[in-house]
Amino acid sequence: MRSVVAFNESWTFREGFSAADAGRPQEGQPIALPHTAVELPFNYFDEKSYQRAFIYQKILPWSDDFAGREVSLVFDAAMADAVVYLNGEEIVAHQDGYTPFEARLTGRLKQGDNLITVKIDGSENPEIPPFGGRIDYLTYAGIYRDVWLKLAATVSIANIKVETGKVLEDRKSARVRCDIANPQGLAFHGSVTASLRAPDGKVLATAVAETSGGSVDFAFEDLSGIALWDLDNPVLYTLEAELKTDRGTDRYSTTFGFRTAEFTTEGFLLNGKTLKLRGLNRHQAFPYVGYAMGRSAQERDAEIMKHTLKCNIVRTSHYPQSKWFLDHCDRIGLLVFEEIPGWQHIGGKEWQQESIRNVRRMIERDWNHPSIIIWGVRINESQDSHDFYAETNRLARELDPTRQTGGVRYITDSELLEDVYTMNDFILGNEELPGVNRPRTPLRPQQENTGLSKTVPYMITEFGGHMYPTKIYDQEQRQAEHVRRHLEVLNAAYGDPSISGAIGWCMFDYNTHSDFGSGDRICYHGVMDMFREPKFAAYVYASQCAPSDEVIMKPVTIWARGERNIGGALPLIVLTNCDEVELRYGSLTKRLGPDCETFPHLPHAPVVFDHRNFTPDELGVWGMEWQDVHFTGFIGGKAVATLDMVANPLPTTLDVQPDSQTLRAAERDTTRVIVRALDQVGGRLAFLNDVVRIKVSGPAKLIGPDVVAFQGGTTGFWLQATGVAGAITVEVSSSRFASRTVTLKAE
Ligand code: GAL
Repeated sequence: MRSVVAFNESWTFREGFSAADAGRPQEGQPIALPHTAVELPFNYFDEKSYQRAFIYQKILPWSDDFAGREVSLVFDAAMADAVVYLNGEEIVAHQDGYTPFEARLTGRLKQGDNLITVKIDGSENPEIPPFGGRIDYLTYAGIYRDVWLKLAATVSIANIKVETGKVLEDRKSARVRCDIANPQGLAFHGSVTASLRAPDGKVLATAVAETSGGSVDFAFEDLSGIALWDLDNPVLYTLEAELKTDRGTDRYSTTFGFRTAEFTTEGFLLNGKTLKLRGLNRHQAFPYVGYAMGRSAQERDAEIMKHTLKCNIVRTSHYPQSKWFLDHCDRIGLLVFEEIPGWQHIGGKEWQQESIRNVRRMIERDWNHPSIIIWGVRINESQDSHDFYAETNRLARELDPTRQTGGVRYITDSELLEDVYTMNDFILGNEELPGVNRPRTPLRPQQENTGLSKTVPYMITEFGGHMYPTKIYDQEQRQAEHVRRHLEVLNAAYGDPSISGAIGWCMFDYNTHSDFGSGDRICYHGVMDMFREPKFAAYVYASQCAPSDEVIMKPVTIWARGERNIGGALPLIVLTNCDEVELRYGSLTKRLGPDCETFPHLPHAPVVFDHRNFTPDELGVWGMEWQDVHFTGFIGGKAVATLDMVANPLPTTLDVQPDSQTLRAAERDTTRVIVRALDQVGGRLAFLNDVVRIKVSGPAKLIGPDVVAFQGGTTGFWLQATGVAGAITVEVSSSRFASRTVTLKAE
């Protein structure tokens, strides 16, 4: 039977590589995977520091289990140019930092110790996508995802593809293709048993087919009692295949879902019902360790998208992301736009061939994820390139006829070879440019972008971002404008039925090259900061959820007399899904409904208090006493939310919130811990630029420095289990607060 075990522990690592190193154990630092070659400061660093070669080594002792079986190492990903050697002999090279590859060791392993060497070259090699031009993100070197030791029968299952059919009928069908791996080209005979299991494990259908090579196909018909995969109830089924041959037995399974997903000229349909897509772009990066965060952090990001930001779609800009992330999107019901690696630049013929291979690798890895609803088969924001993109589209359709293709562009009138015109529309803000004679416009009309005479399936894949970078500690007025822009674009997307949806730029701030961002190697484009702490704009998205999911009421203010220009807090946007918000200030009380005049199309327009609701004397006069404010949210006349903000905030509570109280020790699991400086009523002290000291004892280590600074009244860190079980104590202190101690458990 197949065995796949983590191969993450007991590696050594050092900088530099020469061919002779591959055959000899090198002195190095002991490390575990996932690993980033160079830990970076939060900002202001030299991104060239990791653009060089590194060597990873590990001993694989011979085991009798290897005899007569296929033995390989599966790398979930390594950035960017990887070569794997066994006892000095080159086994495989992989020139893509985002997709898995396998190093086949069969027949080459010797008795005793075997030396595995991996050369990782983090240079921005112009022969490898996405490199060759400038890119607005970093590609941190290292073996940054998991590695697995896989043992299988000499003839085994290579991959499974499940295509569902008649999904919206009572009796559904599923076509299954089971690909056989026979790397030694052995003669064999046997059979594959394919079983379709319900979420509770019950077998719903089974089929058997004989095989002596190639792929095996199954058709399941008349499947009844099947639940659809959808956003609220993402039901996953399992296809389990067992291959029995005279060469041994193998078993492999995959989860999948029954759902339809279709972009039409009248919008996007999930399971035949119109769904406006509302989402954000996500990079897979984290502070300090870049890409090297394992399962929990990946899953957590999916949860933040779904449960904090209430988005229904994420775009994995600009490359295939971790399987942990995608698996979790399947489990929690979050749709995904996945795309091949790249950013604006198209390289030469060989580069393009590699990119075409990326299409194949992405789709063959991910075709069973019900969460994925479209393949991005263009280099993000590149120029037209007919032959290249005709081929990426052809291949995507051949590999997966069930999903539409998209290709993200920002140039107008670009050639539509895809099924869906996916457009980055940054028109909002252009009115500020000299010579632009156009009123403030949230989105261009579709046909102005496409240049086509007819309407086509259409989606906005980016907006915002560099047009209005906003920091979590920026002045309130700027943050309010940041909010307004996200509101306006979402409103426009909701208002046009031909727009399938809008995916904003972006989920959180990210480290980038010096050619982009604020010079400190950060693009402050997120609706959250790098610790995934929400800026006000995050609540634009959150407040669009149904109140039955969560009642949201977020006034876009820190409530201070003199933070905004001229003073006061008007106009005051309250991002909410309540149908009325009451503001009480001293003896004044105002109760208002949503501003449906300005935002007629949003599911939940914000409530906006402005000078129409208050006279200048009532709220906002310089020199008057500044008082506390009290907000109450109402639904159907019933108070469902309250919020107090104080006029005289003082440091009161150091709030320390780990995402999880337990860490899986053996996995070297991580958890994020958010630290907030709070006032008397729980408001973030936006300008408390104090330091926070973190002391960890027990079997966990801190990722990043042990002294960090509040930014916008908040900061954070990640803790990582060291591999052993036990109690972990974290002491967090800051000069203006009593220290806080939290305890966690590694088990
Ligand atoms: C887009 C690009 C993104 C990011 C964004 C910033 O042009 O696709 O990767 O750079 O701009 O707004």
